Amino acid sequence: MIGFGDGQVALLTGAAGTMGLACARMLVDEGYVVAMADIDAARVDALAASLGGNARGFAFDVSDPIAAEAAFAGIETKLGPVAVLVNNAGILSNNKAAETSHAEWRRVMSINLDGAFWLSRLALPGMKARRCGRIVNTCSLAMKSGGLTAGTAYTTSKGALQALTFSLARESAAHGVTVNGVAPAYVRTPMVTEQLDEAQRQALLRQIPVGRFCEPEEFAHCVRFFLSPLSGFVTGEILDLNGGLHFD
Ligand SMILES: NC(=O)c1ccc[n+]([C@@H]2O[C@H](COP(=O)([O-])OP(=O)(O)OC[C@H]3O[C@@H](n4cnc5c(N)ncnc54)[C@H](O)[C@@H]3O)[C@@H](O)[C@H]2O)c1
Repeated sequence: MIGFGDGQVALLTGAAGTMGLACARMLVDEGYVVAMADIDAARVDALAASLGGNARGFAFDVSDPIAAEAAFAGIETKLGPVAVLVNNAGILSNNKAAETSHAEWRRVMSINLDGAFWLSRLALPGMKARRCGRIVNTCSLAMKSGGLTAGTAYTTSKGALQALTFSLARESAAHGVTVNGVAPAYVRTPMVTEQLDEAQRQALLRQIPVGRFCEPEEFAHCVRFFLSPLSGFVTGEILDLNGGLHFD
């Protein structure tokens, strides 16, 4: 076995998505046993099978606290204690305030924010007791830019996810647990490759100083940085991954 994962269990949500799959591959490469969680049961099972024996699919809705609790218990029973949690499941909404319905607001918040909270709340007691744990949350440039890349509910959900990251980082630091986030923009996902036409793609590329879209593997590499044993002094950090669009 190679890498620093050393057979520990990593729970990754949104694992059947583009960035999730890249992250799952990285985790397997680093020697983790990966619980790939997603609401899309068929896809996550097929992807887990394609990654070999160290990845297993678990289908549940992260926004449902009862389902999350049952799934978390099942993962720990089948695979062992969760040492790493990557809260990556998320949905995009491009609607600005006036077009955002109550149902849409609740749906975005419940998946992008509540899901990360429920799973962190489940994972933290064991991590603290073992004095060892890593949580990484997938945030977004949207939260730092007043919604440059997304709508109001999405932007707010990711801003709150950053606040959750800081809050959990502070309350966990003395217990050997780090909590960090990655704030990507314009990762080369189907939204960019399929839903935009060539003119829209070129217009976006002109805005990105680095002059290209972000690769999903570059996102996975940011997660890897936070998981490294040498990153134990880094907590409450949000790592920008935006090709120079925004500095802070
Ligand atoms: N693509 C980008 O440029 C970009 C930029 C910034 C942040 N992000 C964030 O990165 C993360 C991954 O995005 P992606 O582009 O890979 O999207 P994606 O749609 O490819 O992947 C998201 C995954 O989450 C799963 N999911 C959705 N709702 C769920 C639920 N209720 N419970 C469990 N799983 C659920 C989906 O089935 C999907 O597989 C998201 O949190 C997104 O907000 C993406």
